[in-house]
Amino acid sequence: MGLYERWVLPRLLDSAMAFPALDDERRRCLSSARGRVLEVGFGSGRNLPWYPSSVERLVAVDPSGESARLARPRIAQASFPVEYVRLAGESIDAPSQSFDCVVSTFTLCSIPEPHAALQQMRRVLKPGGKLLFAEHGLAPDAGVQRWQRRLNRLQNLLFGGCNLDRNTRKLLTESGFRIEDAEQYYVQGVPRFAGFLTRGVASIDAA
Ligand SMILES: C[S@@+](CC[C@H](N)C(=O)[O-])C[C@H]1O[C@@H](n2cnc3c(N)ncnc32)[C@H](O)[C@@H]1O
Repeated sequence: MGLYERWVLPRLLDSAMAFPALDDERRRCLSSARGRVLEVGFGSGRNLPWYPSSVERLVAVDPSGESARLARPRIAQASFPVEYVRLAGESIDAPSQSFDCVVSTFTLCSIPEPHAALQQMRRVLKPGGKLLFAEHGLAPDAGVQRWQRRLNRLQNLLFGGCNLDRNTRKLLTESGFRIEDAEQYYVQGVPRFAGFLTRGVASIDAA
């Protein structure tokens, strides 16, 4: 791993994820989190202040060691225990059916094998458990899509493999999740090619 990926990228992502308009999305996404929670792609812990008091403990999974370091002050202030596990979402090392909630915010765009990671998220959810998600992705407008495809390679290079054109709903349903509730819109203040958000709750499709 080069200097850029190891040192610059985690700081760049930490700054990008501090964008104020995202706070409201985090708060809404996490409002129903409860019990034992697994957060995939935890990064520098920008979600931590937005978890409600119904959360008992959090396991945070992310492959970036430097992000773990950046997250330390936020972890120290959390009102529940947080365990940071340096792993990729595709290889979550946790027992099956062991979490009440799984959280993924602004992460499915960057996971090299999103279907594999979503399979792991399904595996570790307890029956009746929920996936809480807020993800940017493929926009519905043809003009915006054109820009997303044009800029995708640059976005990939600069932002650690982030893709602008993943279809969040499709990824979830292809991976066996049932979307219970989802809102889709452009987040105000974010360029449209990066700001089409899908936020909601999914559960395991029993069918
Ligand atoms: C844009 S950041 C989002 C961080 C955080 N979820 C947030 O909302 O602020 C994307 C995160 O995905 C992580 N990531 C990249 N590949 C991953 C993988 N295979 N499994 C889990 N996380 C991954 C990166 O290290 C980074 O922390």
